[in-house]
Amino acid sequence: MNYIASSKRYSDMAYRKCGGSGLFLPAISLGLWHNFGFIDSLENARQILKQAFDCGITHFDLANNYGPPPGSAEENFGKILKGEFGSYRDQMVISTKAGYGMWEGPYGNGGSKKYLSASLDQSLKRMGLNYVDIFYHHRPDPDTPIEETMTALDLFVRQGKALYVGISNYKPREATQAIRILRELGTPCIIHQPRYSMFDRWVEGGLLDFLEENHVGCIPFSPLAQGLLSNKYLAGIPSESRAASHRGNGAIEEDQITQDRINKVRKLKVLAEARGQNLAQMALAWILKDKRITSVLIGVSKPEQVVDSIACLKNIIFTEDEIDEINVILE
Ligand SMILES: NC(=O)c1ccc[n+]([C@@H]2O[C@H](COP(=O)([O-])OP(=O)(O)OC[C@H]3O[C@@H](n4cnc5c(N)ncnc54)[C@H](OP(=O)(O)O)[C@@H]3O)[C@@H](O)[C@H]2O)c1
Repeated sequence: MNYIASSKRYSDMAYRKCGGSGLFLPAISLGLWHNFGFIDSLENARQILKQAFDCGITHFDLANNYGPPPGSAEENFGKILKGEFGSYRDQMVISTKAGYGMWEGPYGNGGSKKYLSASLDQSLKRMGLNYVDIFYHHRPDPDTPIEETMTALDLFVRQGKALYVGISNYKPREATQAIRILRELGTPCIIHQPRYSMFDRWVEGGLLDFLEENHVGCIPFSPLAQGLLSNKYLAGIPSESRAASHRGNGAIEEDQITQDRINKVRKLKVLAEARGQNLAQMALAWILKDKRITSVLIGVSKPEQVVDSIACLKNIIFTEDEIDEINVILE
């Protein structure tokens, strides 16, 4: 039976303008880095996507290498899209990326026009799409002139394969160059995707101000530090957790769950409860309190986590005392 999306889906979600563009993104977007590969349950992936869309999440973030194996998240997403979401394509913002190693040889990694062009074509094929809404360069590549990479992004928009372009993991100096070149080419960079959470605050050291001044949106990833900023790891590492699944590729590992971090999580949990939230909700709200943030990119392993996380929107305002208390805990 065809999926019919909830008629209430747009009522509880907030949508924020993405930089200087005309594109609105939901305050919460869903990433498919984990739990959508061939090693995962396709049925669970389908239920997560339906739950997210029913809650007003319109933005879905992929990359060529998501899986495992690499490419399989896009392929599974394409299957679900074709089977369930076909009639909703115009209500969805789908992004993908290239930049990290994807296939062997000199043309399957980095920032060359050769790699990015082939990768985007492969992504479109895997997802069964004519175009993506946003195409990102996934990481700066010191071995490719930045002009070449940005010219490639501009080309994809002119070819109609991407509507908008963005950059990810670019530090302020690299972002400055990329944003300037794209502006000159007539294809403005509308979004930057950096890592940002209570445990990783590097973007506060200049990047967020710079993006705002240049009318570029910001969509932080790993806002829960891959699940650490929740109650999940307080009593050890549960067998059904990302840390226990040994996924590699940058996924959280047991040795990153230190006693120091758990002590901080315990204190943050108390503060979250005083705000009427659980810790995961407070960690998301803490990012969304900042008007420079367009959307926060969550990952989930089950549909219930979508519902739980979205409830953060009920309270994204922090008192000065709460902000101070959080800063002290995180010192
Ligand atoms: N541009 C880049 O280089 C880059 C890098 C990384 C990620 N990303 C993007 O950002 C997205 C999100 O990253 P992420 O998955 O690391 O985000 P995250 O939100 O920090 O971590 C997600 C994990 O947290 C746990 N979780 C989620 N909701 C929860 C809740 N309500 N209560 C308790 N635990 C909860 C789940 O862990 P369990 O699986 O243990 O249940 C889930 O898999 C990715 O899917 C991807 O699209 C981009």
